[in-house]
Amino acid sequence: MKLPYLTLFLLGLASCQLEVNVDYSEIEDPLADLWDPELAPFYHGVASGDPTQDAVIIWTKLTPADSTPEAKGTWEVSSSEDFSSIAKSGEYTTRPERNYTVKIDVKGLEAGSTYFYRFQYEGSYSISGRTKTAPKQTEQLTLGVVSCSNYEAGFFNAYNALAKNEDIDVVLHLGDYIYEYGVGTYGDSSTGRFHRPVHEILSLEDYRTRYAQYRLDKDLRAAHQAHPFITIWDDHEIANDSYKDGAQNHQEDEGDYGVRRNYARQAYYEWLPVRESEKLYRSFSYGDMARLIMLDERLEGRTQQVDSLTAPDLNSPDRSMIGAEQMSWFQNELMSSQAKWNIIGNQVIFSYLNWGFPGFNINLDSWDGYPVEQAAIMDFIKTNELDNVVFVTGDTHSSWGLEVTNDPFGSYQTDGAVALELGTPSINSSNSNERAPTELVLEHEVNIVKDSLNPQLKYTNLRDHGYMVLTLSENEGKATWYYMETILEPNVNVASNKEMTFERGVLTLKE
Ligand SMILES: [Fe+2]
Repeated sequence: MKLPYLTLFLLGLASCQLEVNVDYSEIEDPLADLWDPELAPFYHGVASGDPTQDAVIIWTKLTPADSTPEAKGTWEVSSSEDFSSIAKSGEYTTRPERNYTVKIDVKGLEAGSTYFYRFQYEGSYSISGRTKTAPKQTEQLTLGVVSCSNYEAGFFNAYNALAKNEDIDVVLHLGDYIYEYGVGTYGDSSTGRFHRPVHEILSLEDYRTRYAQYRLDKDLRAAHQAHPFITIWDDHEIANDSYKDGAQNHQEDEGDYGVRRNYARQAYYEWLPVRESEKLYRSFSYGDMARLIMLDERLEGRTQQVDSLTAPDLNSPDRSMIGAEQMSWFQNELMSSQAKWNIIGNQVIFSYLNWGFPGFNINLDSWDGYPVEQAAIMDFIKTNELDNVVFVTGDTHSSWGLEVTNDPFGSYQTDGAVALELGTPSINSSNSNERAPTELVLEHEVNIVKDSLNPQLKYTNLRDHGYMVLTLSENEGKATWYYMETILEPNVNVASNKEMTFERGVLTLKE
């Protein structure tokens, strides 16, 4: 969702197209000027992801000197940082058909263990990454939670801060890993960070180039080097407000949506360290501490958004966010989980939320726009007396502490919440005070947490960029939001943070 323009509009301020006087047309290779020659031929670094108790995906991208039809090299996984004790090793083959990306599902590893990994090609080594398998048992689990990084909006300082946070076991990336727009359409050209290719991405080559550009960013590279990621896409990995059969930002003259969606999906699987599978929704077991359930709320089962709360089919049972097949999988995951916590990797806000703007109070791209499935999930959680469900949410570029309900003035008052929801701010995608005066935004924050509007909303910050950490132990949970000093220049300082705590089985958030 491209919300900030909307909030800007509602605050009565005009958005403007940015003036861009950069001509990239003469640059033969639109990315070569971003390469660090010392990293050749692995300019894009390394990444790891989808850890299980005995396996993890390791990833790199090779840039051979010529466009060879096939390139072969080796990989190593070690329990020591200096690679003196190799746990697993092997050979890889990559080809232009997969954009020379390399993805290995390394199996036979020890649970709950830190490993280092690297790749080799013609005698040159990649940087070495650090990763961690999921534990069989643990007394504490620390999740980094991030979303929404827009190359044009400024620097990815929060990714760098995340890389430096050594407490983190695994990072959940909730989507908007890239943005699809062309230069100057959605961002801040004053930082001099321009999208490549310069036009909106449509073709497979376009999506690949955009991922390649993001992965040449040193801060994002550092985050992947430091931690394993579990990622899910939101809309901008395809196009704004995407759903199964279309998107707000896909027009007829941009070709067939299905073809574009397949290109977007292919590039995502090439560039992200996700296990190859037909479905992106999947779950991970962190011993008896947590089950991480990652939902796909865009391409699997989402039907088109309605355009108003009075739309006749808003409550039609034919409308869905995740679809029947994923819904039954999700319910099975919840019922079969023996874990102390069920953490839902969720893209758009699940709880009822009144945004409090005149003319815009309910976000119809979020779960509030899909009330039938929203209610079905709430009923399922209530009926089965699950009291350990925590949604972690991206998309809004803002921080949220919500006691989950779809009925804030009814059942929430009598029976309380059905779950908790914690929203992570954007890494750097624009939020409200980049489009409206900070005093107005601060005033708005005070207004929307009022009981008369949102009794279920316990905390929001609509101003700051950064990342969230969720720390879980047997009976307690803690969310910590880390806010960066700036995104307008390289700076890894955290300016402030905010904590909220909660107890297992008690669905309230405490300051
Ligand atoms: Fe976003």
